[in-house]
Amino acid sequence: MMEQLKNKNVVLCVTGGIAVYKAVELLRLLQKQGAKVRVIMTRAAMEFVTPLTFQALSGEPVFTDLFNDNTVDASIRHIRWAEDADLVVVAPATANIIGKMAHGIADDALSTFLLAVRSRIVICPAMNTAMYESRAVQRNIDILENDGCLLIEPGVGDMACGTSGAGRFPAPADIVDRILTLMTPKDLKGRCVLVSAGPTREAIDPVRFISNHSSGKMGYAIARAAERRGAMVTLVSGPVDIEPPLHVKLVKVQSADQMKEAFLDAMGDADIAVKVAAVADYRVKNQAEHKIKKTEEQLVLELEKNPDILKCAGQKKRSDQVLVGFAAETQDLKENAVKKLEAKNLDMIVGNLVGGGKGFGTDDNTVTFFFKDGRVESLESMDKDQVAHILLDRILSLHSKGQ
Ligand code: PMT
Repeated sequence: MMEQLKNKNVVLCVTGGIAVYKAVELLRLLQKQGAKVRVIMTRAAMEFVTPLTFQALSGEPVFTDLFNDNTVDASIRHIRWAEDADLVVVAPATANIIGKMAHGIADDALSTFLLAVRSRIVICPAMNTAMYESRAVQRNIDILENDGCLLIEPGVGDMACGTSGAGRFPAPADIVDRILTLMTPKDLKGRCVLVSAGPTREAIDPVRFISNHSSGKMGYAIARAAERRGAMVTLVSGPVDIEPPLHVKLVKVQSADQMKEAFLDAMGDADIAVKVAAVADYRVKNQAEHKIKKTEEQLVLELEKNPDILKCAGQKKRSDQVLVGFAAETQDLKENAVKKLEAKNLDMIVGNLVGGGKGFGTDDNTVTFFFKDGRVESLESMDKDQVAHILLDRILSLHSKGQ
């Protein structure tokens, strides 16, 4: 869980469309981020999913009607909720509500509430492609964006009405990602951040390789956090099975040699470079051109050293750049990490005790920061997303100080 939505009052405005059921998942994901979510529904939305579903999940009565509601504060609820809201999300947003919002029309509970809102409003349109692309809807969206609303572009693909095109409700996880970005201070704006993540694969023959257990989670978390904080991010990634963060430049590589080329290439433009990737230290000297047959009782592979990419980056590093490495160790963390910090000319190294189910592939990580000036900072075990943000805080202060 990230801090941006923790204990924040979010009002989810649900308007009528086939995607209403996806708003249920969105509600759950917002709650997972620590948000307190209240729900308002239009009459049309209730045709698709009953308010009871949202009420049960949000733990609060769903606001549906300005007049036929006997609860104590019903007549002023639209004002109370608007005053309390830290964020409002209209999802799915129909052409109708977009039109009403753009022109200040308040003719039911939901549109009246929206007129009273002073916090940020996020709009997630979902409708038929022709409707979405119509001049009227595009004009109204322009008005809302000029008014300061954040529009989350609908997805492109097959629609419930049998056509295909733009207008699909965005994936709830992507909506939450954009909301977290919106709520994150942009303290890395204008900076270029280079991250490498994942394992490398060193081919033995056309079908086999040497690799390791890196999932890419730690590196991807850093890339995602940097992008949310406003940085332009290049992510050089070995083969992993996780989704890349939105809006980063992804460069996919396989071997250490390819990673070296991509990383050093991007290094010139980087203000900050973080090398999280678990690079194979050795590669097979004579890769077999064809699949090796199991004819022999024993097979000996001759290995040769891979280039040390981080060391090369350290040699190229300019004084205005911050270069950070990771050290995955199974013992003598401090001694080994500090040796690597010095040998590779780094500004900081993140010591990571691994093995026994720790570090590789997990969602949590326990790390210690070792700085060039001798400072040491140990963090308790936490989510890799949280580690990423604390690491970026430290890196930013090094970069701002010119190290
Ligand atoms: O991907 P996850 O599953 O989330 O796991 C995260 C992690 C455990 C892989 C990560 O937190 C981590 O510790 N990464 C460093 C892995 C590693 O290769 O450590 P090392 O001590 O062998 O290398 C030290 C540094 O030199 C690293 O920054 C590494 O990227 C770099 N290196 C190493 C060898 C090499 N030939 N070239 C390099 O650039």
